Amino acid sequence: MAVNVISASPIDGQVPGTSGLRKKTAAFMRPGYLENFVQSVFDAIGGAEGKTFVVGGDGRFFNTEAIQTILKMAAANGAVKVIVGQNGILSTPAASHLIRLNKTDGGLILSASHNPGGINQDFGLKFNTANGGPAPESVTHEIIRCTAAISQYRIEQSADIDLSAIATLTCGDMLVSIVDPVSDYQDLMQNIFDFDKIRALFASGFTVQFDAMHAVTGPYAHAVLEDCLGAKPGSVVNGVPLPDFGGGHPDPNPVWAKQLMDVMMDEAAPDFGAASDGDGDRNMIVGRGAYVTPSDSLAVLAANATLVPAYAQGLAGVARSMPTSAACDRVADKLGIECFVTPTGWKFFGNLMDAGRTTMCGEESAGTGSDHVREKDGLWAVLMWLNIIAERRLSVDEIMADHWAKYGRNFYSRLDFEAVNAVAANDLMLMLRDSADALTGQQFAGLTVTKAQDYAYTDPIDQSISEHQGIQVWFEGGARAVLRLSGTGTEGATLRIYLEQYAPDAADHGRETQLVLNPVRLAILEIAEVEKRLGRTEPDVTT
Ligand code: G1P
Ligand code: ZN
Repeated sequence: MAVNVISASPIDGQVPGTSGLRKKTAAFMRPGYLENFVQSVFDAIGGAEGKTFVVGGDGRFFNTEAIQTILKMAAANGAVKVIVGQNGILSTPAASHLIRLNKTDGGLILSASHNPGGINQDFGLKFNTANGGPAPESVTHEIIRCTAAISQYRIEQSADIDLSAIATLTCGDMLVSIVDPVSDYQDLMQNIFDFDKIRALFASGFTVQFDAMHAVTGPYAHAVLEDCLGAKPGSVVNGVPLPDFGGGHPDPNPVWAKQLMDVMMDEAAPDFGAASDGDGDRNMIVGRGAYVTPSDSLAVLAANATLVPAYAQGLAGVARSMPTSAACDRVADKLGIECFVTPTGWKFFGNLMDAGRTTMCGEESAGTGSDHVREKDGLWAVLMWLNIIAERRLSVDEIMADHWAKYGRNFYSRLDFEAVNAVAANDLMLMLRDSADALTGQQFAGLTVTKAQDYAYTDPIDQSISEHQGIQVWFEGGARAVLRLSGTGTEGATLRIYLEQYAPDAADHGRETQLVLNPVRLAILEIAEVEKRLGRTEPDVTT
């Protein structure tokens, strides 16, 4: 068999964002586009010669075609072995686990996460390093440099590999090991949780609905929740992964997982509801009549972690992204452990976990996870809740009420202004950067700013600096607003505004979130001149 060396030149729009390269599927399918990026990844890590990788994706349209290209390119670049999920399927956390378990040099994960899939929707590719986590900025910057310098790519001239059966095959001189996507991940879960306790919970009549949103977690949830833990058949809904996710938007939040929300807000709701996203790293938790914000979920999991066998000795520390609410900071304070605040994106947690400084991490965007892998993990979060409920035998809303009584409540909401003019959105952020210092002491919509800041982060482990990671504005009375531009969108720009209000008194805990947040919402819309600059008054999505 022969290696083809094909001349290539830089292609516009190959700059990875918050989590890898995400583009319209059609852009990825353009001749040379995927190939250029894959070659740049190999070049950026010093070549693929002698290396091993994990490859898999969330099953969206173009998943298997892209995997065939990646396999042939890995072979042509001298990789010795690639581990692939059967039929090209691997959830992001399962891929992270396989990288660590098999001590590979990294992995290529094909997904655009919670973005819709299909020929007219989105596709994505990200590179994870040998620790199992998303490539840090040092690596992504090198990838960007290589995409701009590329002159050729290498690809094996061979037939497609049959990914449909578990087997070890070859592509050129490279081994291709096709593995069951679920079994190693399931073993890992079994080692973390008290499966017997959770089995007893289900055996006692506890009911659950898990919405896999026609995305990658279907097979994982069927195997773990129904087949292994005894949740009754049918507990997993939309459990068959489809290339276009059934036309849905596989983002587990009250807007996109409305079907589940409707079920859970009904009187006849099951005891517990949960959903996961396209690639299985996000989660939504909802009790009967009680939606749990991701920020609160992180705080509850941290506060109750010692009820779960893997964390019985306590947590080394916790970490949250900057826009995530401060609910977990209060828990860390009480536990006497460190709480790290990092920029948006899971990659910033990697160093902290590798150094043993933090055990559990979370983001407001429905991401929660621990150091069992180096990605957020949707099903893990669900099992955390189930294990805690199995121990405490309280309902979700009882757990929340108890938590707020102890720590106070951080009301929280995020407003997304999607597909806005990118130039105007960038100008808005520049204006805020420039004026941040001068905001202190000024009043907007009746609220006085106590501090404003253009957020920059110095990694405590490697001292690397990440600047301009969002604007934070604090107000009198315990409110905060954060503004940043999304790094995962594929159309124009998306402005995210995050609102938070701390309420220490139990008398306030039952209030309606948007009412509580209205003053800070009005103040930040005025500060950012959203209507004047973006021509928008209402967000597209409020979560
Ligand atoms: C979004 C989330 C962020 C998450 C990322 C990948 O990024 O806000 O927390 O890490 O997706 O799942 P954004 O579009 O805001 O850059
Ligand atoms: Zn995801």
